[in-house]
Amino acid sequence: MKGIILAGGYGTRLRPLTLVTNKHLLPVYAKPMIFYPIETFRTMGITEAMVVTGEEFSGHFVELLKDGKDFGMRFEYAVQKGAGGIADALRLAEDFADNGTISVILGDNIFEDDFTEARIAFEKQSKGAGLFFKKVADPERFGVPHFDEDDRIIHIEEKPKIPKSSFAVTGLYFYDNHVFDIIKRQKPSQRGEMEITDVNNAYIQEKSMTWSEVKGFWSDAGTFESLYTASTWARSWVTK
Ligand code: DAU
Repeated sequence: MKGIILAGGYGTRLRPLTLVTNKHLLPVYAKPMIFYPIETFRTMGITEAMVVTGEEFSGHFVELLKDGKDFGMRFEYAVQKGAGGIADALRLAEDFADNGTISVILGDNIFEDDFTEARIAFEKQSKGAGLFFKKVADPERFGVPHFDEDDRIIHIEEKPKIPKSSFAVTGLYFYDNHVFDIIKRQKPSQRGEMEITDVNNAYIQEKSMTWSEVKGFWSDAGTFESLYTASTWARSWVTK
């Protein structure tokens, strides 16, 4: 399974930190933020990944990560024009995916769990999509799944004012190659972004979405508070 690390966008919520560098190059305790999703991929056995960056600072990613050998991996790069959303960035990986199943990770997501078993299970299944949910105190900041009485997922709402569950959709996704057809049919949301939540809702409508719960630590690192939380966890993890 190939991996795609999405590290585009402007990181506006972290200004002024992101005025002269990219969010994913900022430190999370002792390492640049993007090292954590890379490590998540490496741990789950993904050795080939595409890194999607924005136009600004894209050279800094190549200088830092090079061809991937330092991580025991092989990297390719794509550059997203503007910040048209997560699905817009993912679109650039169609040729790289080469008709296979893919795992996508957001460059600001920090996971403790090892997803090797989930990867192997999805590769066997080879169809549909897979998501990972985490119970959080502030679901309104995220994509939030809505379940029916039988605990089947019926819809995901992006940043709902009144969340219908206390789960957040985390930034690790498994997709079959059909994902690129879904994105081609998709239109930007009201905030002008190609939403990954719309992609996921298309899979839910087709009844080909599975999900499991993240057991260990998870946080994004895209706001001052979550960057601080992620850094504090990383420090406790390194020094434990
Ligand atoms: O962290 C999990 C959440 O990430 C999910 O619960 C949401 O459903 C999902 O929409 C996303 O929400 P955010 O508002 O946190 O996304 P953000 O705009 O911060 O983008 C997350 C990452 O996606 C970012 O670190 C890099 C990548 N990205 C984002 C945009 C907007 C791109 O590569 N290109 C883009 O244009």
